[in-house]
Amino acid sequence: MGKPDLDGEIVEGDRSLELSGEQVRALVDAAMSRISVYLDSLPEQPAFHVDGAAELARSLVEPLPERGQAYDELLELLFEEVIPRGFGTAVPGYLAYIPGGGIPQSAIGDLIAEMVNRYTSIWLPAPGLAQIEAVATRWFCEMVGYREDARGLLTTGGSMANFIGLVTARRERLPEDFLAGVIYVSDQAHHCVQKGAMLAGFPLGNVRTIPSDESFHMRLDVLQQRIAEDREAGMTPFLVVASGGTVNTGAVDDLAAIADISERENIWLHVDAAYGGFFVLTERGRRKLAGIERADSIVLDPHKGLFLPYGTGSLLVRDGAALRRAHTVSAGYLPEMQTDPDFLDFAEMSPELSRDHRGLRVWLPIKMHGIEPFRRNLDEKLDLARWATDQIRTIEGMEIVAEPELSLVAFRLVRPGMSDEELNRMNQELLEAVNERKRVYLSGTVLDGVYLLRICVLSFRTHQADMQHAVDDIRAAVAEVA
Ligand SMILES: Cc1ncc(COP(=O)(O)O)c(C=O)c1O
Repeated sequence: MGKPDLDGEIVEGDRSLELSGEQVRALVDAAMSRISVYLDSLPEQPAFHVDGAAELARSLVEPLPERGQAYDELLELLFEEVIPRGFGTAVPGYLAYIPGGGIPQSAIGDLIAEMVNRYTSIWLPAPGLAQIEAVATRWFCEMVGYREDARGLLTTGGSMANFIGLVTARRERLPEDFLAGVIYVSDQAHHCVQKGAMLAGFPLGNVRTIPSDESFHMRLDVLQQRIAEDREAGMTPFLVVASGGTVNTGAVDDLAAIADISERENIWLHVDAAYGGFFVLTERGRRKLAGIERADSIVLDPHKGLFLPYGTGSLLVRDGAALRRAHTVSAGYLPEMQTDPDFLDFAEMSPELSRDHRGLRVWLPIKMHGIEPFRRNLDEKLDLARWATDQIRTIEGMEIVAEPELSLVAFRLVRPGMSDEELNRMNQELLEAVNERKRVYLSGTVLDGVYLLRICVLSFRTHQADMQHAVDDIRAAVAEVA
């Protein structure tokens, strides 16, 4: 450490954080050696491993360290103790919640972005990198069938994207005093939509929950009735949120019919397609999501349907200028913002100013591979979900509660003479018995008081052999709990 500059001499500051390129390479090489072992062992890793999780977590708590520790020891701790504990979200048998897997090509994009540490929230400081994010979201706009004037941005995930979409809709369709505004969501909508409405300043009483039908789609008769009632009561219906694949059962609302209603009623249509949206790349998905291009805004989660690592969602807005209208606040210390609509200042399109650069993690893998393998993977997941459904149906007592509309199937075991409570308990035990085998990891959900198991196939690493494991383990677990 240098001394204070009392004599006017040049003082040598602390340079211990400034590594040479060679030093960085050595650190990355050492980490990479561990990462490559980790990646190659994924097929053998357990689909979940939480033994000793609490002890591990407690052991990490320590006072702020004054001095450093050997890098090798830290890598050892991470790869031997920390990383192996938990849900195997990157393993091929991970079929719980909404998987994605995390393609390493994206992580390399992140490594580059963070090593060069350019400032990309505003176009001027890094015009090329900012443009790369703009291009990535343009590709998404192209996928859903938006026109040239649509714009998008990359967020940390679907929750943030839904929130920004809600704020944009509010700004476009309501006056500054917006408390008469009413939002319509189905009872299957992801809870982040309600959270987003709350954060956007709406009392939860302004969010109408529209019931879904027997196949979990928003009931359009009730939607229309509630809109009429609200108008009658002097409220302002301004936003309907439709689902492009629900988290519970994968149901895709009738987007074209909801678009008709929204247009007729002059209501902003937002489609939460965080899970299902990228299936538009496939023929079947495009048919299922028909009408999505008529939405005013759409959420797609690349960390789900494009298999990216966690931390990337996206919001697309059909009239791209609306994003800017909803988020622009000027300040004297900021550099000049762009007036050319082709050059985006992301800081003016969302609540965030400084943020990590998110473009390369999308752009790099798509440029490296083209979109074709992504499309083929998504098509394969549609087939695998259908195949698993047909297999599960052959297990005695199994009820398919929701057929896959995309890559998610919900089911439960039914035994005659059991009460609802007993059935729920048996299905929870069934889930535990499947997961205990640790080859696959499934999750459950409760719908109208009924406990269901669900399989969501979405990781790029999940193939036929993994689905066979899932079906075999379900079959064996059924025999166990029966
Ligand atoms: C339909 C849907 N919307 C929104 C979200 C929230 O996305 P995130 O977890 O990226 O915030 C999810 C997450 O699973 C989802 O399935």
